[in-house]
Amino acid sequence: MVPGNKIEPLDLPVAAAPAGLAGRTSHRRGHTPAERLQHRLELANQWLILLGLLPLAVLAWRYAGRGLGPNPVETLAGATGQWALRLLWLTLAVTPLRQLTGWHWLVRLRRVPALFGFLYACLHALVYLLFDHEFELAGIWNDLRQRPFVLAGFASFLCLAPLAATSTDAMIKRLGGRKWRHLHRLAYVAAALAALHFLLLVKRDIGEPAVYILLLALLYGARLRKRAARPRLVLVAPPPEQRR
Ligand code: HEM
Repeated sequence: MVPGNKIEPLDLPVAAAPAGLAGRTSHRRGHTPAERLQHRLELANQWLILLGLLPLAVLAWRYAGRGLGPNPVETLAGATGQWALRLLWLTLAVTPLRQLTGWHWLVRLRRVPALFGFLYACLHALVYLLFDHEFELAGIWNDLRQRPFVLAGFASFLCLAPLAATSTDAMIKRLGGRKWRHLHRLAYVAAALAALHFLLLVKRDIGEPAVYILLLALLYGARLRKRAARPRLVLVAPPPEQRR
């Protein structure tokens, strides 16, 4: 779902990223700035993995101690859905943040939260399929036809799956940067469908989904603005006397 460390087309060479992580002096002598940045990014990614596991550990702890409240399935579905949503939004915020701050290395911290977002979406879908329907296809089919919010969730999940499947360095290489970037625009479709899923689900208090929708609109707007500001290559035909 996210670019790899080496061939992300938006990455700047490490030495050319003076701000933030890359700019601080390191106590590790004898290393080039590129190696120091690489080391810091690896450490940061390890921390992100631990942070990504935290909500899962808390849920497992509560489950083991029977602390999931009167409706454990609802709690599990709610918490996993919420984390999937938060992490998807966080992932989408990376590019505008990078553009705003000039911290190009942020892109190299995007894969872990993105994949954790997908992991929580998988767990969320699993809770639904297992506890709500015990994998009974007829019931699931009926639900999809009768409850639009379930259909929107399903569609969002289907958009996220190819993004997760193409998140490895090998897949980015295989697809090529251009195709990969095109495919990964699906993340916005997935997010819009997830927001719709949430909005249709809540019956009265639409405050929370409305905040997500507003944030998504801002993120998408920032993306469009940046694209509009990009200089375009204009091909001008040479004067007739210079032709041939
Ligand atoms: C196969 C796909 C999906 C199915 C079948 C599904 C199903 C459901 C169901 C049944 C609920 C209601 C839970 C309850 O209150 O008992 C729910 C809530 C929710 N889902 Fe999904 N969902 C899917 C995909 C997603 C995805 C991809 C996201 C986000 C990226 C998501 C985010 C949420 C959120 C935020 C809630 C509300 C949680 C809350 O109660 O605060 N869902 N989903």
